[in-house]
Amino acid sequence: MDRYTPLEDFVGLDLPVDQANTTGRDQLGEPEQIPELSDVNCPDELRQLIEALMDRYPDKDSREGHKSASIPALWAVQRQYGWCTPEGIRQAAAVMKVTPAYLESVASFYDLLRLEPSGKSQVLVCTNISCWMRGGDELLDAFCEASGADRGKAGHGGALSADGEVMVSGFECLGACDLAPMVSVNERYFGPLEAADAKTVIDQLREGADVLPGKSLAKRPLPGGEDVPADDRTDSLKGPNQ
Ligand code: FES
Repeated sequence: MDRYTPLEDFVGLDLPVDQANTTGRDQLGEPEQIPELSDVNCPDELRQLIEALMDRYPDKDSREGHKSASIPALWAVQRQYGWCTPEGIRQAAAVMKVTPAYLESVASFYDLLRLEPSGKSQVLVCTNISCWMRGGDELLDAFCEASGADRGKAGHGGALSADGEVMVSGFECLGACDLAPMVSVNERYFGPLEAADAKTVIDQLREGADVLPGKSLAKRPLPGGEDVPADDRTDSLKGPNQ
């Protein structure tokens, strides 16, 4: 018996990669279709943003869709809806000409892309080595206690607060070990924190107040003094290479 499936036996070699069956197994059904833009009711601002993101990558005219922009496009969906909703993924898929299943597979790989509701605010508590040695686990305990989030779930993927407004999650190194123990609150870094700060943060988030201004990395004095202009990348939604 041949060890390898002959190339001609593969199903769908003329299809985009994510619709082709390259396993050699029988297909369970019809390949998922790429949704039509006219069928998904994509908000104009989301479509325009995803199209602008696609323009930054060289596969814009590929017959396999614009896969290179998948992560920023999913990020845009998450910003639009608070998480990567099934409908948001369908909208992005229609704009990008890929299947929703492809985008969902990408989203499921990355912790920061969420496939379930995650509240209005997200608190990621670093429990990796530097933060753990300086009380990261106790800080996560304190955030769970202050918010009413389930501690067991918070340590394994995240848990919503009792009122569903705040997601608390333990996290691996967030790359700011000099702030240990530190947290990310709505994508902004704070540290070093004490357990008592947890309740303050949760209260401030619920009130819509500025979070711990004295412990915010973004509000730290700039090296070199006040005359050095701020790096506008820290205040924009763009990544460092955009
Ligand atoms: S160990 Fe916490 S930021 Fe690196």
